[in-house]
Amino acid sequence: MIKIERVTLLDFDEIDGIEKRSFAHPYPKTLLIHDFNNNDFSHYYKVSLDKKIIGYAGIWCTFEDGQIITIAIDPKHQGMGYGKKLLKFILAEAKQRGCEQMTLEVRVHNERAIQMYQQFGFHKLTVRKRYYENGDDAFLMKIDL
Ligand SMILES: CC(C)(COP(=O)(O)OP(=O)(O)OC[C@H]1O[C@@H](n2cnc3c(N)ncnc32)[C@H](O)[C@@H]1OP(=O)(O)O)[C@@H](O)C(=O)NCCC(=O)NCCS
Repeated sequence: MIKIERVTLLDFDEIDGIEKRSFAHPYPKTLLIHDFNNNDFSHYYKVSLDKKIIGYAGIWCTFEDGQIITIAIDPKHQGMGYGKKLLKFILAEAKQRGCEQMTLEVRVHNERAIQMYQQFGFHKLTVRKRYYENGDDAFLMKIDL
């Protein structure tokens, strides 16, 4: 059975595994934990399938402005609809927390993610040149909630 719940500190070993398997340039575990512990505006959610974490997302809700910091589904569970379920959930959470809009950055070649965001109503605002450490450009995308 699939469940979406808030992340706890104990989840970060599993989350770190998903992060490393999902991204060529993963966030360090220490950075995610630091954000989780110290940033009052950050909120992390996990998707579990039969009690095993298969995906997670982090958002920042700064008053009316929301941001998706990260979202990933473990590669062997990708393409099965879990990303959409998680995205729907975090958008509802952000709205409930008072966000009126959400933004995110995504690599310009990450077609799968861009497709998913567009399906939900995100649109491309601009290109952030050389946004990533390897020189990749990012689209800044936005949705009004
Ligand atoms: C992006 C990601 C979170 C999507 O989660 P997912 O569970 O794989 O996606 P879903 O199965 O819910 O599909 C969501 C939508 O993505 C798009 N999509 C999925 N597979 C795709 C593919 N092979 N090609 C293009 N688009 C695809 C489609 O729009 C799909 O909706 P549809 O099935 O109605 O057409 C996941 O692929 C992932 O973790 N990728 C690596 C990390 C990453 O890039 N995160 C985003 C950083 S900004």
